[in-house]
Amino acid sequence: MSKFIIKGQVRLSGEIEVKGAKNAALKIIPAALLSDEKITITNLPEIEDVSRSLELLEDLKAEVKISKNRCEIQVKNLDKNSLDPKFANKLRASIMFVGPILARVGEVKFSHPGGCVIGAGTRPIDLFLEGFKAMGADIKWEDGSYHLKAKKLKGCEYFFTTVSVTGTESLMMTAVLANGTTTLKNCAMEPEIKALADYLNEQGAKIKGAGTSTIIIEGVERIGAGVFDIIPDRIETGTFAIMAAATGSEIKITKCIPEHIESLLSIFKKIGIKFETGEDWIKIFKSEGFSSYSIKTHEYPGFPTDLQSPYTILATQAKGSSIIHETIYDRRLLYADMLTQMGADIIMCDPHRIVVNGPSKLYGKKLTSPDLRAGIAMIIAGLIAEGETEIDNIYQIDRGYENIDTRLRALGADIKRVEIQ
Ligand code: EPZ
Repeated sequence: MSKFIIKGQVRLSGEIEVKGAKNAALKIIPAALLSDEKITITNLPEIEDVSRSLELLEDLKAEVKISKNRCEIQVKNLDKNSLDPKFANKLRASIMFVGPILARVGEVKFSHPGGCVIGAGTRPIDLFLEGFKAMGADIKWEDGSYHLKAKKLKGCEYFFTTVSVTGTESLMMTAVLANGTTTLKNCAMEPEIKALADYLNEQGAKIKGAGTSTIIIEGVERIGAGVFDIIPDRIETGTFAIMAAATGSEIKITKCIPEHIESLLSIFKKIGIKFETGEDWIKIFKSEGFSSYSIKTHEYPGFPTDLQSPYTILATQAKGSSIIHETIYDRRLLYADMLTQMGADIIMCDPHRIVVNGPSKLYGKKLTSPDLRAGIAMIIAGLIAEGETEIDNIYQIDRGYENIDTRLRALGADIKRVEIQ
């Protein structure tokens, strides 16, 4: 176990390079099961969730070769069709393995995915099961796990009654090997979904409409090899932009796609945070104060729920009141209490809404990171706070941010990773 110790009120400066998107990598890795040829993935972030996903693939007897920010995968034969709970319980995104296994060998067994505290209870998977059923799968619940069978999946029409990112990606990739055409409606439109479709189409899939709310997949017999460069992580991009603004630092964020965080940058313009953008970079300038602005999280291209907690830290430094309305998940405002203990002026209105009054002086505290996005928000709070902040349970942060302490020290942050017995 280890923790971060941060000494606050240090101005940051310099450049930080954005890594490959966690939420793209966690889909293209299981999608490799759809083909029996070699899949090469570059710009792969070195984070815990990717390691867990590759371990799951190796447990399924896939050939996996890992090097720096890169891996090669080949699944010549898929003999094992059950997800070992010891891996699946550590990774919510293990659900992404179910569709490809079902499509490839016609049978799959798995327990309810674990690994993430946010979301109602144990994060529902009803949309996935309904989708597989619509494609002709027979679904049984036996001895604490789901057992799905389908001789050959068939194309179907499916309307998502709730917009779901992984639900969209799971049914889209599963339909690639189904018989006939599948039409998915009310799909999520995140950039990672279009990236996944582009990767699969390079392998011979026939997917149209990814990135819009209607996706049409014409099933094919098989798909071939592929080489994929993971797109930049838009949540890292937004997090570093908020970190710069909240600490009054001048930072250049490189290897990113500015348009993927247009929802945040549009707010920066409104509240007086100065920045410039280029094709693959954003430069944040030191701003003398900025005003408050209320947000409501929304599916892409709206304000991303994964930037909600970092944005709340920014709101504690803004002049005025901001309503933070989390519409996607339950339990994604749990960190607000810890922020209050640091001196933030926050009123919890209901489980989905808080009011943040600023600017507030923050003071260092001992904190525990409930999830990865609240964890990085606590790092930002620690960088602002007077005194020392300790954050434990930092596995949650390492799940989604590669070598975050090393990268922040390069910007001048006083942050140490300390092993605890
Ligand atoms: C993806 O989660 C991301 N994870 C999340 O990032 C992100 O916050 C979320 O999309 C929203 O943008 C990955 O891509 C691995 P959802 P996902 O299905 O797909 C409900 C992070 O920090 N729902 O879009 O699991 C669900 O309860 C993570 O990187 C059902 O009701 O989220 C939620 O209210 C956190 N039934 C809503 O849909 C289902 O079967 C949206 O969840 C599935 C979801």
